[in-house]
Amino acid sequence: MDKERKLIIAGNWKMHKTVAEALDLVSDLKLELANVKEVDIVVCPPFTALGEVSKAILDSNLRLGAQNMSEHNVGAYTGEIAAVMLKEFSVRYVILGHSERRQYQKESDELVSKKAHAAHTAALKPIVCVGETLVERDAGHTEKVLEKQVRGSLAGLSKEQMSESVLAYEPVWAIGTGKTATTAQAQEAHAFIRALLGKTFDETVARRVRIQYGGSVKPSNARELLSQPDVDGALVGGASLEARSFAEIIKNSI
Ligand code: PGA
Repeated sequence: MDKERKLIIAGNWKMHKTVAEALDLVSDLKLELANVKEVDIVVCPPFTALGEVSKAILDSNLRLGAQNMSEHNVGAYTGEIAAVMLKEFSVRYVILGHSERRQYQKESDELVSKKAHAAHTAALKPIVCVGETLVERDAGHTEKVLEKQVRGSLAGLSKEQMSESVLAYEPVWAIGTGKTATTAQAQEAHAFIRALLGKTFDETVARRVRIQYGGSVKPSNARELLSQPDVDGALVGGASLEARSFAEIIKNSI
């Protein structure tokens, strides 16, 4: 596929996979994807599997991501994980503000932006998630919601930091539901977000930032979605839990 930006496809394993299961999955992925150079491939296991997966992918083209982190660097924050702790396992990316965290942990745009700053300070690349609910889409508020989330979650980042960040457009109604946005809906939202980055930062930044699509991406719809000019990758949940389907998504995008 001829793309302006290098594709980045990440598997968000959510709360799946013990260490043993995670190692099985990455060993299959390494075999399936050994020759892929065209796409940045990221796996995001749960925290408990990061250490072992990190060792297992050292000699491969897979890169490691985490699913969340604290906005604080150190201190009395029971149960939290700091960016520097992720760095110990050679983590390069961190998903921030996933809609499940916004919904269940009540994460706000302000908190997501603090986490994004902490990630950049530790030289981690955030994958910042935004997306509207079905109620918001049906009410015609998609752009308003995206604008608020993009401005709020990325507030105060420098142009350099923004250029190194990844965005993920994940319409909440398409996550884990089997409903995918149409290619036209995805492209429209991505183009809107890119134009907004142009206004908020500048045109160079807007051209550089990679925007992933997420929400029921699977081998059968990946190629069409990723062929859209402003869709620069995918954040894959369910279909990233099996080597064959995740590998097929990646191969179908080349
Ligand atoms: P899904 O999840 O692919 O299972 O819809 C995507 C995500 O939540 O990142």
